Amino acid sequence: MTATIIDGRAVAERLRKHVSERTAELARRGTIPGLAVVLVGDDAASQVYVASKTKQAAAVGIQHFDFRLPTTTTTEALIELVRDLNARRDVHGILVQLPLPKHVDADTVLAAIDPAKDVDGFHAVNAGKLVLGQETTVPCTPLGCLILIREARSNLAGLRALVIGRSNIVGKPMAHLLLQHDCTVTIAHSRTRDLPAICGEADIVVAAIGRPRAIAGEWLKHGATVIDVGINRVDAGGGKTKLVGDVDFETAAARAGAITPVPGGVGPMTIACLLVNTLNAAVRAAGSTGVATLNALRPEEG
Ligand code: GUN
Repeated sequence: MTATIIDGRAVAERLRKHVSERTAELARRGTIPGLAVVLVGDDAASQVYVASKTKQAAAVGIQHFDFRLPTTTTTEALIELVRDLNARRDVHGILVQLPLPKHVDADTVLAAIDPAKDVDGFHAVNAGKLVLGQETTVPCTPLGCLILIREARSNLAGLRALVIGRSNIVGKPMAHLLLQHDCTVTIAHSRTRDLPAICGEADIVVAAIGRPRAIAGEWLKHGATVIDVGINRVDAGGGKTKLVGDVDFETAAARAGAITPVPGGVGPMTIACLLVNTLNAAVRAAGSTGVATLNALRPEEG
């Protein structure tokens, strides 16, 4: 079997169109969604991500407010900025790009963000609501992964899902989202024994470990849906580099039913979901304008 390739770029484009339409509607009713993006230091990858986030926000009509701070910025100064942003009426979403410099207490900074403006869904209140199955802002990458899984499978009930990786940003929220969709969920991590055997049982595999091509195609169940969150830069010979995922794409595509490529799979979905979360935060803040929040899983409805 050769897997269907799940086109994250196309799905993200569709989602951005919905965000753009609803943002325009909200703007006509007097509220322009606003996103504050805080970047501390000069991490090259973070600079690329942040530039992409602000560019795409602008493209769908979301206002962005950029804060570029030096590496020497203190935890206290960041908390002060977050408090200012919490109080601003034109800011509906606050994103503090991670990782923060080592001397900054990231947990304390994230905890200072008003949960209603936490468009990353990292605040303990939002993370807790996700665990309890309550409506909340869901972290962007897992939400994007779920949308892509549903491109391949409309009904997830009873399927065995394996999440490889237990980070707060991807693995843990992903597992809870899949549980909410009635999957039987396993979380694997660096101490897991016999990962190939566990992989072989899974109808859905979400790989988020940050190690290039660590998941071999031979480990997969035939017909599995494979979502690759990894973005790893590797040597491509001749002094060049290329991006690969956490899954060995060639062998996996020969065995899976559907698989996301790297690049062009999960990557584009993360920012599209950030735009959804920002729009929805603005809709809630604006109150009863007649504009409904956008359901990222079923954008055609409501
Ligand atoms: N760093 C890597 N991914 C993310 C993300 O989704 N949000 C934030 N704030 N920082 C990140």
